[in-house]
Amino acid sequence: MAGLRVLLCLGALLARQGSADLGAVAIGEVHENVTLHCGNVSGSRGLVTWYRNDSEPIFLLSSNSSLPPASPRFSLEDAGALHVEALSLEDDGNYTCREVLNETHWFHVWLKVASGPDQIAVNISATGALSNGTLYTAWGSRVDFSCHSSSQPPPEMEWWLQTHILESLGKNLTANSFTLLQMSQNLQGNYTCSATNVLSGRQRKVTTELLVYWSPPSAPQCSVAVSLESATLELTCSWDGGYPDPTFLWTEEPGGTVLGNSKLLTLRPAQLSESREFKCVGSHIVGPESGASCVVQISSPLLASQPMKTCFMGGNVTLTCQVTGANPPARIQWLRNLTKPETAIQPSSHYQITQHSQGSSLTIYSCSQDVDEGFYFCRAENLVGVRAVDIWLSVKEPVNVGGIVGTVVSLLLLGLAIVAGLMLYYSPVFCWKAGSTLRGQDMGDVMVLVDSEEEDEEEEEEEGVEEAEQETYEREGLPKEMRKHGHIHRVTALVNGNLDRLGNGLQELHDDSDERQSDIVEEEDKPV
Ligand SMILES: *[C@@H]1O[C@H](CO)[C@@H](O)[C@H](O)[C@H]1NC(C)=O
Ligand SMILES: *[C@@H]1O[C@H](CO)[C@@H](O)[C@H](O)[C@H]1NC(C)=O
Ligand SMILES: *[C@@H]1O[C@H](CO)[C@@H](O)[C@H](O)[C@H]1NC(C)=O
Ligand SMILES: *[C@@H]1O[C@H](CO)[C@@H](O)[C@H](O)[C@H]1NC(C)=O
Ligand SMILES: *[C@@H]1O[C@H](CO)[C@@H](O)[C@H](O)[C@H]1NC(C)=O
Ligand SMILES: *[C@@H]1O[C@H](CO)[C@@H](O)[C@H](O)[C@H]1NC(C)=O
Ligand SMILES: *[C@@H]1O[C@H](CO)[C@@H](O)[C@H](O)[C@H]1NC(C)=O
Ligand SMILES: *[C@@H]1O[C@H](CO)[C@@H](O)[C@H](O)[C@H]1NC(C)=O
Ligand SMILES: *[C@@H]1O[C@H](CO)[C@@H](O)[C@H](O)[C@H]1NC(C)=O
Ligand SMILES: *[C@@H]1O[C@H](CO)[C@@H](O)[C@H](O)[C@H]1NC(C)=O
Ligand SMILES: *[C@@H]1O[C@H](CO)[C@@H](O)[C@H](O)[C@H]1NC(C)=O
Ligand SMILES: *[C@@H]1O[C@H](CO)[C@@H](O)[C@H](O)[C@H]1NC(C)=O
Repeated sequence: MAGLRVLLCLGALLARQGSADLGAVAIGEVHENVTLHCGNVSGSRGLVTWYRNDSEPIFLLSSNSSLPPASPRFSLEDAGALHVEALSLEDDGNYTCREVLNETHWFHVWLKVASGPDQIAVNISATGALSNGTLYTAWGSRVDFSCHSSSQPPPEMEWWLQTHILESLGKNLTANSFTLLQMSQNLQGNYTCSATNVLSGRQRKVTTELLVYWSPPSAPQCSVAVSLESATLELTCSWDGGYPDPTFLWTEEPGGTVLGNSKLLTLRPAQLSESREFKCVGSHIVGPESGASCVVQISSPLLASQPMKTCFMGGNVTLTCQVTGANPPARIQWLRNLTKPETAIQPSSHYQITQHSQGSSLTIYSCSQDVDEGFYFCRAENLVGVRAVDIWLSVKEPVNVGGIVGTVVSLLLLGLAIVAGLMLYYSPVFCWKAGSTLRGQDMGDVMVLVDSEEEDEEEEEEEGVEEAEQETYEREGLPKEMRKHGHIHRVTALVNGNLDRLGNGLQELHDDSDERQSDIVEEEDKPV
């Protein structure tokens, strides 16, 4: 910086005549040069001598070249002006110029030497710093801003905020420090501290960008999905709502083998096997220090269904298949192995397929023996594995067709009932046990006939069947499941068909036995 930085303010006008005046003010800066004028007269002058006024005036320089200057820093310029090089704070003071012409004139100049402001020290706490030096703080935190600089005379400090809310007008705070209590997104922005030397007008500023970060509000969620091409499995770690975006780390558990570090992890078929567990750890710069994690397990489907189903000719039947544990969700198909390869059943007027969250149901309308009897397969498949269960569907003719069979069964039952009655009479406990054994062996027709007969005795209509049946089971203490399997349709058939005939034969006997049986069972239920 070559030029002289001189800011000359004429505090008062210099009188041409008269010995003293209020003088002028000159401002210089440390390390710079300054020129002090001897009055405001231009052109050639008389003999000019400069003094420094402290307690005693000190000679500095004269236009009489036989008198050497007090310091090489001083030199005379045009019109008797004093040039001072390399100012220091000690040069601050009053200077006098004496001009001797026809008369002697005195001119006074007050030299003010300014210094600074120096480097500004900005302290913004508590914040973290990114690798590029930008500061960040957590949402809701308290931030203290302070700013220091020194200068001669002391600087004027000011904070200039440029944030999203203050952007349009900005805000200047004439203070060294201030505090923001609840940092929010709106307060993210540029914070400038400036220090101004009022004497020299010199200003320094430091701008600090402050980002306001927050971690996602809830825990990460791991999920599994099949890619569009169905060839790969995509594990997704959803941990949204934070700023900036968190980082992710996918590992396989146990062992912690690192598999990826993005939100999405793609698994190729070769990587898919039963019950592998994957963990995603999300890390956020202002989030929990240890990170937040979720775990996902991939597994093939597990299937459950009844092994056998019966349908009456012309009736409807629904086969169901429960799927559990499949992750990703399985595709479920119903198949028959009538051909090779097996053919998948398509929905039609004959078949209805209903998929639900727990599995799938196949409803066959209007069963016919030659078409529908046989094995059905429920097959569930996902990228991890495939499972299938078979269900045997038997198609029967309604029972009333076989009247002879009915009669035979009735007679057989009659015999059994008599025996049972006798046993009951002599040894009730034994009878109950025998009854249980009988049921365990065959939950079929024998049991049902007793139920029906009971109903008949009470002269109930069709609606009563279920109620009565339930009652009986409760008394008998049979597990609920047993009742579900293969019973209800048989009862219905009997009601439709052979009820009257069977009832007539058994009624008398039953009047006796049923009541007693109930009593005994009750006794059995009580704790002894
Ligand atoms: C001060 O003046 C001297 C001589 O006139 C010159 O060499 C020097 O560069 C000047 N310094 C500044 C800071 O202007
Ligand atoms: C010097 O002072 C006189 C008044 O005293 C003024 O009229 C004149 O303009 C000044 N000259 C300069 C160069 O400042
Ligand atoms: C400065 O010194 C001169 C010469 O000694 C004297 O006449 C003048 O009054 C002094 N001025 C001040 C402001 O001290
Ligand atoms: C210059 O200074 C010298 C030595 O002090 C002196 O002898 C001489 O008279 C001075 N000249 C003028 C013009 O004042
Ligand atoms: C210079 O003189 C003025 C009066 O003209 C006085 O107020 C001031 O304090 C003096 N400055 C110094 C540094 O002595
Ligand atoms: C100074 O004196 C000279 C002769 O001694 C004279 O001619 C001149 O006019 C005077 N100047 C002033 C401003 O008084
Ligand atoms: C910044 O300010 C905080 C208190 O507000 C203080 O603890 C810390 O030491 C300061 N840092 C520096 C570098 O001055
Ligand atoms: C520093 O990095 C952050 C995040 O990457 C960015 O937002 C900011 O603008 C960067 N600052 C500078 C000065 O490059
Ligand atoms: C705030 O200060 C800056 C720089 O110091 C200045 O440019 C701006 O005009 C000031 N704004 C207000 C409103 O005072
Ligand atoms: C802060 O300054 C940076 C760099 O100059 C700029 O990219 C950013 O937009 C500014 N931020 C605000 C809120 O003005
Ligand atoms: C079989 O289902 C069809 C359609 O829901 C219905 O119309 C028909 O009555 C059902 N047949 C029997 C025997 O329940
Ligand atoms: C269909 O599957 C069942 C059960 O796996 C099997 O017993 C039967 O032989 C198969 N039938 C044909 C035609 O392959």
